[in-house]
Amino acid sequence: MSSMSVATVSALVLALATLAVPTQAVPLSADGGPVHLELSAPRRSVPSLQHVADRRSKRDNTDPFNANLVNWFDSAYAVNVAFGTPPQDFVLFLETQSPLTWVYDSSCTPDTCKGQTGGFDTSKSSTYVANDTLNSRPQGPPSVQLSDDLFLNGTWGSDTVSVDGAEGKSASVDNFMFMNCKLGGIINNSTQRPAGGLGLGWPSPGSFSPPTMLSKLAEGWKDKRFAIHLAQQPAPADGLLEPQDSKGGTLTLGGVNSALFTGEIDYVPLSTRFAENGAPTFWEITVDAADYGGKQYGNDTGNGTIASVDAVSTSSSVPDKLFHDVYSNISDARLVEASGDTPQYYTFPCASSGQVKPLTLTLGGKEIVIPAEALYTPYEAVLSTKEPAGWCMGLLQTMGEPSFDNVDWLFGVPFLRNLYTVFQLEPPAIGFAKLSASASKGSHCRRRRA
Ligand SMILES: *[C@@H]1O[C@H](CO)[C@@H](O)[C@H](O)[C@H]1NC(C)=O
Ligand SMILES: *[C@@H]1O[C@H](CO)[C@@H](O)[C@H](O)[C@H]1NC(C)=O
Ligand SMILES: *[C@@H]1O[C@H](CO)[C@@H](O)[C@H](O)[C@H]1NC(C)=O
Ligand SMILES: *[C@@H]1O[C@H](CO)[C@@H](O)[C@H](O)[C@H]1NC(C)=O
Ligand SMILES: *[C@@H]1O[C@H](CO)[C@@H](O)[C@H](O)[C@H]1NC(C)=O
Ligand SMILES: *[C@@H]1O[C@H](CO)[C@@H](O)[C@H](O)[C@H]1NC(C)=O
Ligand SMILES: *[C@@H]1O[C@H](CO)[C@@H](O)[C@H](O)[C@H]1NC(C)=O
Repeated sequence: MSSMSVATVSALVLALATLAVPTQAVPLSADGGPVHLELSAPRRSVPSLQHVADRRSKRDNTDPFNANLVNWFDSAYAVNVAFGTPPQDFVLFLETQSPLTWVYDSSCTPDTCKGQTGGFDTSKSSTYVANDTLNSRPQGPPSVQLSDDLFLNGTWGSDTVSVDGAEGKSASVDNFMFMNCKLGGIINNSTQRPAGGLGLGWPSPGSFSPPTMLSKLAEGWKDKRFAIHLAQQPAPADGLLEPQDSKGGTLTLGGVNSALFTGEIDYVPLSTRFAENGAPTFWEITVDAADYGGKQYGNDTGNGTIASVDAVSTSSSVPDKLFHDVYSNISDARLVEASGDTPQYYTFPCASSGQVKPLTLTLGGKEIVIPAEALYTPYEAVLSTKEPAGWCMGLLQTMGEPSFDNVDWLFGVPFLRNLYTVFQLEPPAIGFAKLSASASKGSHCRRRRA
């Protein structure tokens, strides 16, 4: 097989930041998100990554381990990851819907890798081992096709891969097999961006799928959970977001961080509709009900509605009717039709944003309120430059009607930022808790751009 099967590709999904709204087996060319990265050139420099000199001596895969997240344009989240010996540092998207861990290769040029340069140099790592068997097959190594325009082609090899944590700690996996992307890539021409993806999704059975980062890390965990708190960037005085804000929240591996949430964690079992041998294939749950402005939404397919949970999706997707009902009645709202990789979305004058209401979701019998402010953004980096100043963009999108594969919902950044989210391997479930006072500070108040 020269490329991953559709099932795997779907798992690889992408929700890559600006390419929101991906999902299982959707023809990925139809995917896309509200943003094209060319839209708003970042004006700030990337904070240099702190080099952790003694990470080897402090590796720790057992106890709950905290890593700071990088908030990328207030749209997606990433984590600092080192490859090789000595370690080379990169910022990788946190991919909860993909089992694939990959990094751009140092051979990338702007032309070959969509503008990306400065990737991993395998020749400078004493522990890198190319997978010659895989890479020298007549049909070439497995590559990943995401859509006509979006693919990752490269070579496979193994090396030490470490997630950098607080206090000089790291969670490391030796001889971990990943892809060096030498051709293709995920986002056009963004200079300030993560250099790959850290796959924390479930493995995809039945197709090429080397042991995943999640399964390797979890081997050492006493507590088979990881959890995320996604922090919102402080409102920027000049309306421009930091391209990469290093205080983007916390990824906790091998447990939860009790400072970041309050009360109980309510667990919702994972959907097992695609399960093979009892193992789930996606971080995917059922939404029992949804209430917006007193109206009920949710079970449009009559099949229960499935929500895919994805930490790198800029938008959240909701059933088609709800999408239109949230925004279409707002004064002067406009529906921007889909074009290219960008799906349809609404814009409206920020002055009318008071007409947006909170959304109440029922998950596992418990109600969760997504505040109105989480359903739109005033920020330039997330907006198309086609929008005049003072306009806001709706952060909800639709999977279309009828929904594909009965996935009506995608819980992306706009939803997850309001919750503490726990990904539990055994038994497979996603847990939600209220953010603690310190974690929620600033979360719900978005300031409008002047
Ligand atoms: C890249 O990978 C895709 C998917 O496997 C494949 O169809 C395509 O031919 C590859 N492109 C090159 C130039 O190798
Ligand atoms: C190369 O990849 C194949 C297919 O996943 C695997 O069976 C083999 O163990 C790998 N070899 C090395 C040296 O990593
Ligand atoms: C990337 O740029 C090419 C050439 O401008 C364009 O055809 C393609 O649609 C773009 N893809 C994305 C994902 O923005
Ligand atoms: C990337 O940007 C350069 C310079 O602005 C431009 O020439 C090139 O066409 C862009 N490539 C893509 C794929 O958008
Ligand atoms: C329910 O889901 C199954 C499996 O995805 C599908 O075959 C069936 O057509 C769906 N039924 C409805 C009413 O959508
Ligand atoms: C969805 O609707 C179907 C048909 O009305 C019903 O049987 C099912 O229980 C509903 N599922 C949920 C999760 O509400
Ligand atoms: C939109 O406004 C009209 C007129 O006020 C009202 O009848 C309708 O119920 C509203 N729709 C929604 C989804 O709020």
